[in-house]
Amino acid sequence: MQTVTGHPETTEALSQAEVARIKADFEILEHQVNGTELIYLDSGATSQKPRCVYEAEQHYYENANSAVHRGAHTLAVEATDIFEQARETVAKFIGARSNELVWTSNATEALNLISYSLSNASLGRGGESSARFRIGAGDEILVTEIEHHANLIPWQELAFRTGATLRYVPVDEHGALRYELLDELINEKTKLVAFTHVSNVLGTITDVARFVTAARKVGALTVLDGCQSVPHMPVDVKALDVDFMAFSGHKMLGPTGIGGLYGRAELLDAMPPFLTGGSMITVVDMEHAEFLPSPQRFEAGTQRIAQVHGLATAASYLDEIGMDRIAAWEEHLGAMLFEGLSKLEGVRVFGPSGIKRIGTVPFEVIGVHPHDVGQFLDSRGIAVRVGHHCAQPLHRALGVSATTRASTYLYNTEQDVTALIEAVASVREYFGV
Ligand SMILES: Cc1ncc(COP(=O)(O)O)c(C=O)c1O
Repeated sequence: MQTVTGHPETTEALSQAEVARIKADFEILEHQVNGTELIYLDSGATSQKPRCVYEAEQHYYENANSAVHRGAHTLAVEATDIFEQARETVAKFIGARSNELVWTSNATEALNLISYSLSNASLGRGGESSARFRIGAGDEILVTEIEHHANLIPWQELAFRTGATLRYVPVDEHGALRYELLDELINEKTKLVAFTHVSNVLGTITDVARFVTAARKVGALTVLDGCQSVPHMPVDVKALDVDFMAFSGHKMLGPTGIGGLYGRAELLDAMPPFLTGGSMITVVDMEHAEFLPSPQRFEAGTQRIAQVHGLATAASYLDEIGMDRIAAWEEHLGAMLFEGLSKLEGVRVFGPSGIKRIGTVPFEVIGVHPHDVGQFLDSRGIAVRVGHHCAQPLHRALGVSATTRASTYLYNTEQDVTALIEAVASVREYFGV
């Protein structure tokens, strides 16, 4: 198979027979919606879960349910083992060491954790050991115009709390990042650069090395939003050389309510906490508290043990299939979507052409509101996303307020993509446009 980029593929994509076997692990995909078999093309929002993930959660509740790190009894020890084993599994999945993975509710919380920790440092919390995280008036924080609101608003708020200035890398008319501006935008004033690995709207893949090289030159911290990359391609935080990376479990076959923050150990250990309370301290008196090193320093309160276990099960499931093979399959589906939709009359597909992308493609059926497109597709059993996909600035730059987005995962077939393209082809006629 050729890839979208036209280069011969180095990794063999999943075969159609393998995809069929994978699909059978997802009970929900057997559902009928509006009298027809469900075609789920909304994995960019949240993925479906294989049976082994919710069975793992059930098994935990039936056999080991207990609070971790606190009890001397057998169940507490078992629960702690499961919890910490899961940390090792998921850390390995992203190329990190286990003390460099902090559990959070989702990517949103992970990004807010960094933002609030840095403003606490800026208030003087953490003393001299956290002085390098201080940000103030005259400093700059850099984001990009393609960010999900989760990787934009926490930095707007950090700028507000510290007096720093927020700047951004703009896109061109196709939504491609204007890398040529990086050398001017990343300068001696830049303290932090936050950018997405994969656009949740366009499916485009960021050139991480260009950001990291420019940030390193001026000593700025790098924060990668891995929400749409970790589920869909091999991701190794050490090879990418970023300081932090946020991701969400529910987008990578895991349960809702669990996500992670990778951070270099030496950074996490020097940063002041975000949430405070039980389980993250060494000594407490009535006036002050001392904090455990990372990751416990950032895991205040009773943890999401079943969800952590479910996420580790999901990571192992993906690992067994092979992230490189999943990526190759989705690149193929993404190319089918982009090319198939682009050929339709009255349909505008967004995003640069001739590039490598994951299986995420946004489009507009000219003259029909995206919500109507979504409802029409739903009447044919096809689930897609409509709206601004939590990326209003990018939509504004593309000149639209909303789009319809189809997004694939490892359980989608070529037939799913063909069914979508055929259905989209009849939207305008249905609405009399
Ligand atoms: C690129 C990107 N970043 C961040 C998020 C936020 O993820 P969550 O809502 O799971 O925190 C999403 C979710 O759609 C996303 O696609």
